[in-house]
Amino acid sequence: MQSLPLLAYFAQQAQTKLPANVWHYLQSDAGSGTQLQTNETGWQAKKLIPRPLAALHQANTQCALFGEQWAHPIMLAPVAYQKLFHADGEIGTAVACNAQQGQMMVSSLASQPVEEIMKQAQQPLWFQLYWQGDREATAVLLNKALAAGASTIVFTVDAPVKQALIDLPAGISAVNLAKPLSMQPIQPGQSQVFDGWMSQAPTWEDVAWLRQQVKGPLLIKGLMHVEDARRAVTLGCDGIVVSNHGGRVLDSTPSVAAVLPQMVAAVGGQCKILVDSGIRSGQDIFKALAMGADAVCVGRPYVWGLAAEGAMGVAKVIRYLRDELEMTMALTGVSTLAEIRQVELYA
Ligand code: FNR
Repeated sequence: MQSLPLLAYFAQQAQTKLPANVWHYLQSDAGSGTQLQTNETGWQAKKLIPRPLAALHQANTQCALFGEQWAHPIMLAPVAYQKLFHADGEIGTAVACNAQQGQMMVSSLASQPVEEIMKQAQQPLWFQLYWQGDREATAVLLNKALAAGASTIVFTVDAPVKQALIDLPAGISAVNLAKPLSMQPIQPGQSQVFDGWMSQAPTWEDVAWLRQQVKGPLLIKGLMHVEDARRAVTLGCDGIVVSNHGGRVLDSTPSVAAVLPQMVAAVGGQCKILVDSGIRSGQDIFKALAMGADAVCVGRPYVWGLAAEGAMGVAKVIRYLRDELEMTMALTGVSTLAEIRQVELYA
């Protein structure tokens, strides 16, 4: 019998079902253990004023971006190695996402072939690109995703060199990579960080190069500074994802809710703004949209659903968050996402 709210119940189920090291990989943050909480309380600290008596019988949560349209603005953030959490893996997530009329970002580190994920999804998905050490190798992965039918590329830049932070069990790997990225060998006296990792990391010049390679929409994921947001616009990016990677990379950053208003002001409507990190409810989604985001992404919550009940669990999480968003709209008297944007939050 389920007595907890759905997301808490799925989190509890996931913890029970997953091996301890997989649960830890999923939940972990950058080190101090407080970054996750900072992200979550950032959204919770904003408050809503009830506005009864509005006529809302024709209200909706429809969301349109880059010529695509979905029933709601709740996107599934890229999460690596989903077969770790359930045998359904990324394909289960993609099927659930389609059933719920939403959008998913397939990770560069997906554990199933991107062609198969796109095929089962029955819709063009977005592909999250990690830099592969140099332009040539990155182009190979990019072209594979585009050939599979990816409609939009999301270039994640806040985790400069990404390797598995978990010892992957046999049978689970980043199957779409030509070869796993391995650390540059360093000489005695050299820095592992600068001469090792950072010698393989992308720079703004690479973003300019990538912009030339991608004819369709290109988003940069993992920006938190206003000057970086402006630079992404200057380089012709179509959108940014304001994100601290769910608190998993740099410790001691502000919450995304804290920086979102200045990021929105910085781009001044010149590109779309998505947002993630710590979003746990329909109220959080509403607040992000009221602060100027065009759509939101969730990470861990749908993975709890995947671990608990496979594709069905992912579908239930999306529907639950959408129901909460609709309820929040009903209680605050707004009927569209555009109207949410006009709502002033109570500080
Ligand atoms: C991630 N995230 C991530 N991001 C990305 O661009 N590529 C990736 O492969 C991954 N992999 C990944 C694995 C796991 C287990 C987690 C939890 C997260 C980050 C993800 O896309 C997103 O930014 C955060 O998860 C959002 O925060 P919440 O919703 O999990 O708090």
